[in-house]
Amino acid sequence: RTAAERNTQVTHTSVERRVELARAKVNLTLHVTGQRPDGYHLLDSLVAFPQIGDRLCAEPADRLELIINGPFARNLDGPAEENLIVKAVAAFAKSSGIPAPKLRIDLTKRLPVASGIGGGSSNAATMLRLLEDITGQYLAEDTLHELALSLGADVPVCLNQEPQIMTGIGDVIRQGPQLPKCGIVLVNPKVEVSTPDVFRSMARRDNPAMPLMPEVFESPDHLASYLATCRNDLQEPAISLCPEIDSTLSALEGSDHIKLARMSGSGATCFGLCEQEEALEVERALRASFGNWWIAAGALT
Ligand code: C5P
Repeated sequence: RTAAERNTQVTHTSVERRVELARAKVNLTLHVTGQRPDGYHLLDSLVAFPQIGDRLCAEPADRLELIINGPFARNLDGPAEENLIVKAVAAFAKSSGIPAPKLRIDLTKRLPVASGIGGGSSNAATMLRLLEDITGQYLAEDTLHELALSLGADVPVCLNQEPQIMTGIGDVIRQGPQLPKCGIVLVNPKVEVSTPDVFRSMARRDNPAMPLMPEVFESPDHLASYLATCRNDLQEPAISLCPEIDSTLSALEGSDHIKLARMSGSGATCFGLCEQEEALEVERALRASFGNWWIAAGALT
């Protein structure tokens, strides 16, 4: 049978099987500039999506099912309805006024969980995009953005996995600069960090905003020298809760070829920037010294 014939048997389905990379979200900068009365923090952050991520596959089935495999599957052993992917399916159906799509969803969890690189947020955002394609129900961008925000502050920025600048509580998003061809190495010391705890441990919340940014970064050195004038304001409080982050940063900073090292999000994952051709060499060297850490190298965009 042709794909079209198969599809006629499954209501609300216009595409039969889709596979996407739900990329890691890396905060190249994260300035915390204030706090709203409801407790959420005001941010100013340059975000990029390297070619490192979870694999998400969805296809029509006779019921909704989420199957999780991969190196970090065991860290997601809670009930399926608590998974952001399943929440995304329910929220999408409600918002678009269709019955909950019956899908077999396969997640290969390669990114560490609760680790500051938005794995869950990226999964949810990617699922929303997949749902649009699979059901043929394309939502207005505003509606999709609201839906994403209802799932988490970091979900909207993950809808378009390209360089972006986040302000507000993460909900105000604009296109980011053009980033150079560049390598990135992500390192996590295999410790989970609680985001609310890190925000609570901040000594001050009224920090200066991000310095004016060029529209185009010509080279990895240009990017690194700009980023050196920026910060992640969550890095210090995260280190106070999780000293392993300090060791992770020291390991990256001590690596050959690394131009800049910093923590992403609320940690514990840290990133190092290098020339694209050198990323794998950095990964190999770190792995030889820190065999039990999670280490992944790839292109920055
Ligand atoms: O929205 P999300 O569930 O991803 O946020 C997790 C937690 O991070 C929130 O409960 C809040 O404590 C903290 N947070 C914050 N300010 C933000 C984003 C998150 O205080 N802008």
